[in-house]
Amino acid sequence: TRRLRPVAALACAWAVGAWLAPAQAQTVMKIGYSTAKDSHYGVGSTVFCDEVAKGTGGRYSCQHFPNAALGGEREMIEAVQLGTQDLVNSSTGPLGNFVPEVKVVDIPFLFRDYDHARHTLDGPIGQDLLKKMHAKGLPGLAWTENGFRHMTNSKRPIVKATDAAGLKLRTMENKVHMEGYKTFGLLPTPMAWPEVFTALQQGTVDGQENPIPVILSAKFAQVQKHLSLTGHVYSPAVLIVSPAIWSKLSDADKKVFTEAAQKGAAAQRRKVNDDEANGIAQLKKDGMQVVEKVDGDSFRKAVAPAFANFAKEFGADRIAAIQAVR
Ligand code: PAF
Repeated sequence: TRRLRPVAALACAWAVGAWLAPAQAQTVMKIGYSTAKDSHYGVGSTVFCDEVAKGTGGRYSCQHFPNAALGGEREMIEAVQLGTQDLVNSSTGPLGNFVPEVKVVDIPFLFRDYDHARHTLDGPIGQDLLKKMHAKGLPGLAWTENGFRHMTNSKRPIVKATDAAGLKLRTMENKVHMEGYKTFGLLPTPMAWPEVFTALQQGTVDGQENPIPVILSAKFAQVQKHLSLTGHVYSPAVLIVSPAIWSKLSDADKKVFTEAAQKGAAAQRRKVNDDEANGIAQLKKDGMQVVEKVDGDSFRKAVAPAFANFAKEFGADRIAAIQAVR
C-alpha cells in the first residue's frame, strides 16, 4: 500500500475538519423605511447595515426595502414587534400608539433647533425613551432623524397661522400633531404615507407637512406649488430591531448593533443637514414657491393654549425638562 505524502495528508485532514465544523450561520435581515435608498433614511440604514456586517464578520447583513415597500410606518413597526420584519428606520409618527411615553417628543414647537433635539435624544431623556421602547417589545437602537417639518400645499403661500386656516392637510397618524395643528385652523387628515402622493395629485387633500429631505425624495414639487418653512415640529426617527433578533444576540453582537446604529444615526443626520442646506434651492428650481420668512410667532401663539392639555397628558415637569436641555 502507498502511504499519503505529508502535504496531501494535511489537505485531507483540513477538508474533513472543514466538513465537520458547523457552518457559520448567516442571517440576512429585512430593513424597511419609507423613502428612497439615497435619502436620509437610506443613507443612515446603509451605514448601520455595513457596520453590522463588518462587526459580525458577515454573520448579519441586510436586505433593504426602501420606498415603503414593506408598508407604512405603523405596519412596519407592528411587523418588527411581531418579528415578521427584522428592522425599521421610522419616524415617531405612529410610534406613540405602541409606546405612549414617546408621544411627548411630538409636541409642536417643543424643540428650538436641531442641536436642541439631538442633545435631548442622545442624552438621558432620549436614552430613557429607548429603554421604554425595549420594555414594549420594540428595542430602539438609536435616534436617527427625519427633521423639522414644513408645510406644502397647492392653494396659497403660508406666511402666518391664519394663512393655514381652512386647508385640508394630510398628517401622520399622530394625535399630538393633530391636536397642535387644529390650533392653526388646519383640517388635519391622518393618512398612511404610501397614499400621500396620490392624495396630493388627486386633490383629496390640499397639502401635507414633512421635512426637506422627504419633500425632495418624494418629489412633491411635482404635485405641490407652495412650500413654507414653518418648522412647526421636529420629527424624530429611530432605528428599531425586532425582539426576535435582539434576544438571540450575544452581548458582543448587541454592542456591535448599538454602535452601528449610532454611526448610522450620525450619517442620517449629516444627510438631513446637507438637504437642509441645498434642498431648498433645488425645490425652487423644481418650480416650488418658497416662503422662507414665516411668522413663527403667529404659530407659537396659536398653539400655546394646547400646551395646557399636553401638560395634563405628559406632565408639565417632563415638558419643562425637555425645554431646559441646552
Ligand atoms: O410623513 C410621514 O409619514 C413621515 O414623515 C415619513 C415620510 C414616512 C418619513 O418618516
